[in-house]
Amino acid sequence: MINTAKQLLKNHFGYDDFRKGQEEIISHILNKEDCLAIMPTGAGKSICYQIPALTFEGTTIVISPLISLMKDQVDSLIQNGISATFINSTLSTSEYFQTIENAKLGMYKIIYVAPERLNSEGFINLLNNINISMFAIDEAHCVSQWGHDFRPSYTEIANIILNLKKRPIVAAFTATATELVKNDIINLLKLSNPFTLTTGFDRKNLSFSVETPIDKKKYLLDYLNNHKDISGIIYCLSRKNVDNLFNELSEQGFSVSKYHGGMSDSAREQNQNDFVFDKTSIMVATNAFGMGIDKSNIRYVIHYNMPKDLESYYQEAGRSGRDGSPAECILLFNRSDIVSNKFLIEQTGSTSTKLVEYQKLNDMVDYCNTDKCLRKYILEYFGEKTDYENCNNCSNCNSEIESTDITTDSKKIMSCIKRMRERFGIGLVTDVLKGSKTAKIKSMKFDDLSTYGIMSDYSKDTIKELISFLVSENYINCVGDKYPILVLTPACSDVLFNDKKVFIKRKIEKVKPKASEINYDIELFGTLSAIRKQLAEELNVPPFIIFADSTLIEMCILYPTSLDELYRVSGVGKYKADNYGKYFLHEIQKYVEQHQIEKSPEKVTEMATKISSKKIKIPKESKSDREPTKITTYNLYMSGKTIKEIVNLRGLTQATIEKHLIDCYKDGMKIDLEKEIHTQYEKEICNMIHFMKGALLRDIKAALPYEVTYFDINYYIAKIEKN
Ligand SMILES: Nc1ncnc2c1ncn2[C@@H]1O[C@H](COP(=O)(O)OP(=O)(O)OP(=O)(O)O)[C@@H](O)[C@H]1O
Ligand SMILES: [Mg+2]
Ligand SMILES: [Zn+2]
Repeated sequence: MINTAKQLLKNHFGYDDFRKGQEEIISHILNKEDCLAIMPTGAGKSICYQIPALTFEGTTIVISPLISLMKDQVDSLIQNGISATFINSTLSTSEYFQTIENAKLGMYKIIYVAPERLNSEGFINLLNNINISMFAIDEAHCVSQWGHDFRPSYTEIANIILNLKKRPIVAAFTATATELVKNDIINLLKLSNPFTLTTGFDRKNLSFSVETPIDKKKYLLDYLNNHKDISGIIYCLSRKNVDNLFNELSEQGFSVSKYHGGMSDSAREQNQNDFVFDKTSIMVATNAFGMGIDKSNIRYVIHYNMPKDLESYYQEAGRSGRDGSPAECILLFNRSDIVSNKFLIEQTGSTSTKLVEYQKLNDMVDYCNTDKCLRKYILEYFGEKTDYENCNNCSNCNSEIESTDITTDSKKIMSCIKRMRERFGIGLVTDVLKGSKTAKIKSMKFDDLSTYGIMSDYSKDTIKELISFLVSENYINCVGDKYPILVLTPACSDVLFNDKKVFIKRKIEKVKPKASEINYDIELFGTLSAIRKQLAEELNVPPFIIFADSTLIEMCILYPTSLDELYRVSGVGKYKADNYGKYFLHEIQKYVEQHQIEKSPEKVTEMATKISSKKIKIPKESKSDREPTKITTYNLYMSGKTIKEIVNLRGLTQATIEKHLIDCYKDGMKIDLEKEIHTQYEKEICNMIHFMKGALLRDIKAALPYEVTYFDINYYIAKIEKN
């Protein structure tokens, strides 16, 4: 049976292998057992019910709380050749009745349903009139009051199922793993002796970093400038922060959307769509954004502020890299975020939850301060054992910690607070240390203090960072809700009077030799994503529904030129190959000819193995990636090696090596290629290039004497361009 499932996986979704846990869950469902699957965000839960839905006779009902995303999910299924629909409040009355009619005729394999529908009599009627094979309950934690997203209508589900004429298989899916929630799901959904599976929480393709830049804005802008044209989310703590950052990024010409609870529904929807449809590349948002978003090509998630707990952090960061290709999760830690979060807890928490929230906040801060492996920290926080000390894919594993002695600065700050009688907040203390000339300082005569201006050679941000550090180390307390003031703790006396030293830790990135990464053809990638975008617009679906980035990348490594070869690419199922294959094949064919790319079968197999071990590098800056390989070829050539020798040495094709050399020639580098060229045909070749302008190289070559090579033609094209 599992073989059939595997075939369906390739046929409909284009994937060769199941991910961790999928096969197990599917085989139990196919065995007609109830199931509960707990798998992290982006792990691939949907396929666990979609594949059984295809093998069963009848229709699978999927309960999902996310109305705004049902359309995407259904569109995606339809693109994969699966008949599906949804029933929720966005349907007009006539659409609704049409859907019901179709459902009764058994036209759908999968129907997505909003839980609110379960209260309607008409709907229950429908359920008893169709052959239901399975109830799949997505985001099943919504049934539990202990979860973070309780939906009262979820508690109706068990009853509805009980009242059906024939009880279908019930399978529940969630990413939330606490015992309380898990038990609630089993009990409240009345799962019958369910097979329960919890896969590990690790997401290997995500790299984790905590950065503490003095100037966060500058850090962010540098990062964005180096990562243009790829999708990413920036999470901020407050709506105001979102608005400010959005304005600033827009002014600087970045392609950006925003999302927070204070915007109108329509503005939010518009912004979400722009981002999901790749019309903008950056989303600046509060934590209100992202639940259930299946945009698979999000390459980074930056937390501009530290969130309140690790649960939120891991869920938000986990929205990156759903396609399984590498993605970055970066947390910009500034100790003032501790103060903001404490303030939020004070404002919103009830006395009973406050303690828990403070504990969680502490764990979050520890994550930012730890010098151990970040991945290990996260996984252990979620109760998972790891058998390694270093994951080698987080900022702590990839950097060295440098300690700096800040005792003198600490003493200056402490005595300044003391002299201001411990009655003021971080802003005024900073101003005094900096020596600012404000009216308030003058009127309070703080400019007479001996500590006035003693840190004038530091920026205000640095002073604040140092103060915040002393707060996080419990030398200073922030007291008061609305206008927190700084007071010294007893720990200060050790520093001020007993020679205790204070150290701040900073990370220095290790320059590490990168694991053997594959460089793919970035130029071709650009062409293929343009086609994808055009198709997506015609079909009115987000581009990643056509093909994921990772699928395009694989095309740019394997250069498939026949349907058969295309079908071998991961993410290309039969339906997509049939429907869109020709557009992509046409471009690849053209490209392969123009660039004379030779595909040797061994190379394809070798590449395919590397790809499946997922060491693909996502472009940061396209040009620079290509530079060194060309230069390597150039240096070898200039050292006297022949083209043949370089081909053997570098394991690249002759066409590639020739292209490197011509590129160097085009770039004006000192190189004489005429000795490699059939110069006796110069005139004819140049005439033909002129005459057949815009034609395929293949056709130009065919029109010339047999001895003339592609290398000759490309050389003269370059020469003509240069003159
Ligand atoms: N076997 C597989 N091989 C490759 N990609 C897969 C496989 N299974 C799923 N995927 C891809 O992984 C991505 C995430 O899948 P899915 O939306 O089902 O995640 P999820 O577990 O439901 O996450 P969430 O908790 O956020 O809803 C999708 O883009 C999907 O196409
Ligand atoms: Mg899901
Ligand atoms: Zn690590």
